[in-house]
Amino acid sequence: MKRIGVLTSGGDSPGMNAAVRAVVRAGVANGLEVFGVERGYQGMIEGAIRPLDARSVSGIVNRGGTILKTARSKAFLEPEGRVKAAEQLAAHGIEGLVVVGGDGSYRGAAALYQEHGIRCVGLPGTIDNDIGGTQYTIGFDTALNIATEALDRIHDTADSHDRIFFVEVMGRHSGFIAIMSAIAGGAEEVLTPEEPSDIPGLIARMHDCRTRGKTSMIVVVAEGDDAGGAVDIAKRVEKESDFKDVRVTIIGHLQRGGSPTAFDRILASRMGVRAVEALLAGESGVMVGIENQQMVVRPLSDSWEKKSLFDPDLLRVVRVLGV
Ligand code: F6P
Repeated sequence: MKRIGVLTSGGDSPGMNAAVRAVVRAGVANGLEVFGVERGYQGMIEGAIRPLDARSVSGIVNRGGTILKTARSKAFLEPEGRVKAAEQLAAHGIEGLVVVGGDGSYRGAAALYQEHGIRCVGLPGTIDNDIGGTQYTIGFDTALNIATEALDRIHDTADSHDRIFFVEVMGRHSGFIAIMSAIAGGAEEVLTPEEPSDIPGLIARMHDCRTRGKTSMIVVVAEGDDAGGAVDIAKRVEKESDFKDVRVTIIGHLQRGGSPTAFDRILASRMGVRAVEALLAGESGVMVGIENQQMVVRPLSDSWEKKSLFDPDLLRVVRVLGV
């Protein structure tokens, strides 16, 4: 193997640049030529592929977003799209690929390997932390810290006005950011997509909190909660209870931008190096994860078959600490 490619795909996450840098530099250190594919699989189909040398990735370890840009490609979901993508890789002499993204991006990589024999290694890049085969994904720690900081700020104003706040964090299918930020930010309650939400039960617990002397409260809501987003839930609580001075904050894409934390930079750097080593060792159809501080290599299918879930006991921790 002489030439490899690297791309970022799906929703961006802080630390993707650190991963790209690590793949490029580990490739160069091992005598490989490395190419960057722009805008994920869409750019691959269109031939948006350029060489990257060690210097071209200087000064990006601390930058959010992705210098390669990212996209969700509809064309790549079709076999014809993948034929075009494989042709572009062949035209550039690229024999191996590192794909940084979520499980949708991994499915694309698996198809590319099965249909066209292109060796692929996945790196988990998403703020949602919901990919099987790894305990942490690149970007989760940064997003969690942003959500926690937002909760700290909300806490100040909620306390000053004796108000109830519903704070919506990201996570269409995953409550990782919600549950962890609820603990770190000292929220009274949390609603996640993993647990069916019981609004009368929530109201009853909020009343209990008030009886115990709480004058302000924060309820963290994951955007994909089954009872709706924070706006819907706040309206329902206002209607069905005597809590009236209620406010809503949606943190949104703020959680996806900005400089990655040291944890995410280190995770991405270690994973990038391991991905290149895996390709050089002839591995394919695999992803790099972290388990108990160690880099591990797992089948790509682990990412969607063994979906990563938070420990349900964390819900109990939120409620015990909200006493
Ligand atoms: O998967 C990452 C994520 O940020 C989710 O938490 C969120 O639901 C989704 O992407 C938002 O996607 P978009 O940026 O396309 O609106």
